[in-house]
Amino acid sequence: MPSTTSSSAKPVRKAVIPAAGLGTRFLPFSKAVPKEMLPVVDRPVIQYVIEEAVDAGIDDILIVTSRHKKVIEDHFDRLQELEDQLEAKGKDAEAEQVRALSKLAQLHYVRQGEALGLGHAIGTARNHVGEEPFVVLLGDDIMRPEAGVVRGMIEAYNEHRCSVVALMEVPHDEISSYGCASVTEVGDRLVQVTGLVEKPAPEDAPSNLAVMGRYLFTPSIFDEIEATEPGVGGEIQITDAMESLLEKERMLGFTFGEGRFDTGKKLDYLRAVVEMALEREDLGAGFRDILAEIVDRENIGNRS
Ligand code: UTP
Repeated sequence: MPSTTSSSAKPVRKAVIPAAGLGTRFLPFSKAVPKEMLPVVDRPVIQYVIEEAVDAGIDDILIVTSRHKKVIEDHFDRLQELEDQLEAKGKDAEAEQVRALSKLAQLHYVRQGEALGLGHAIGTARNHVGEEPFVVLLGDDIMRPEAGVVRGMIEAYNEHRCSVVALMEVPHDEISSYGCASVTEVGDRLVQVTGLVEKPAPEDAPSNLAVMGRYLFTPSIFDEIEATEPGVGGEIQITDAMESLLEKERMLGFTFGEGRFDTGKKLDYLRAVVEMALEREDLGAGFRDILAEIVDRENIGNRS
């Protein structure tokens, strides 16, 4: 059995949010505007991701960006002129909303010069993270805070002192879109990861458990990333680095069932907007009426 890590006494304080990818599945929008800035009602996707990390008790967040993604930094920066103008118009609540963005967490940025893959993006965090365990939250992936995924992963780390990865069961024919884990049972929502494979053909997949957007790593992952050659799609895959880590350290899986939106995919993005809008106190009722009207119209159209 691989041993647990030597950095095991340190608490999880830091998060890394990779947001430097090309976003090819969201073209043409993502040509000039990062997909992580897609609005879900009135907040960009990456703001939900940061709020989830903060909700799980993390306040030091490193965002991996690129030269095409400056607008992400601007969104979380102070904009004094706007605050002044809003206050001058008596719009104090709006001014406070704008100001609050710069106080969400201690935000830091690092550039990934070239989109060489998720593993490579996480590798750029090495200097900032140092010898501490840390969480990775994908910048285009919204998880409902009530699903308690990052919080649960941190609790698992505190108890077991090893890397933990979020896993969700997916239909068998969809497993080839994800990293896939083979596992054995450990306890409530926790499984022991025994193997990993990136985007397997359904007939080769060891399970239906897909790696889903949230990771908690010991700092040993950085050595493994550095030793990882480009894999599927010519990219440095985090799954490959995790496979090597697994040979040296224990890894757990934290399973969850729902509450995740991969907003980098157009249909999942649309679902996120609809669900989040329906839940809003200020918009939900009005939006429900609009949806009902559209559905009625479509149904009538289909019948005629
Ligand atoms: P994705 O695989 O969803 O992003 O990575 P992508 O490569 O931008 O998407 P497509 O396939 O071209 O549509 C998940 C997260 O990792 C970041 C992305 O920005 C996204 O938030 N990422 C991915 C990086 O930071 N760097 C990379 O080299 C790749």
